[in-house]
Amino acid sequence: MVSPFEVLAVDEDADEEAVERAYRERVKRAHPDQGGSIEEFQLVRRAYRELSERDGNGEESDEEAGTAPADIDLGDDGAAAGPKPARVEFLDYEAVVDYGWSLDDNELFRKAAQADLAPDAYGRLLVQPDESLLEAAERSGFAWPFSCRGGACANCAVYLAEGDLSQPTDHIMPEDLAERGFRLSCNGYPLTDELSVVFNVKQRPELDDLILPPGPFTRR
Ligand code: FES
Repeated sequence: MVSPFEVLAVDEDADEEAVERAYRERVKRAHPDQGGSIEEFQLVRRAYRELSERDGNGEESDEEAGTAPADIDLGDDGAAAGPKPARVEFLDYEAVVDYGWSLDDNELFRKAAQADLAPDAYGRLLVQPDESLLEAAERSGFAWPFSCRGGACANCAVYLAEGDLSQPTDHIMPEDLAERGFRLSCNGYPLTDELSVVFNVKQRPELDDLILPPGPFTRR
């Protein structure tokens, strides 16, 4: 496994300033808008985060903490502004069903906010730069559905009401469903600063053919 020093091409005794300088230079080339890839961009952000924590400045502020590829500010001089976490408003599809709401209702999240739902059914969480949406939900203490964790089923599927989520590796989601806003949370990384997602949509009939049978690691 490549070390964060190799990723940023800095010496192991590089000081905070040198790491910052190397990160800003490296992340410009890794940015998807500049010819890089999401995977490379995530790798660079993860390396920077690890080295920042090593230097004792890892208590990442909003300004220091990693951003989604689509939102990084490259500035006039091409320098990358500090990354920050993506903010996600989430809603359980079971609540959508229980209340008779519709996924394409523009007022869906306003209705959810006013419905006095349980904290694990409606709320907000932060996705750090090196986390998938599913990982962020789990770190936040939520048990969102999943099975393979590798893009091969749709147990982890979410519906995007706002914002965008990447699908950077091989995955099973058909194009027509992706165009309608369905994504996989296990390998999806925020591409926008803010997202509104409905999780637990695996019970939607259009996803039936993509679901794997429950396995030992399946939740729900
Ligand atoms: Fe199978 Fe995400 S858990 S695709």
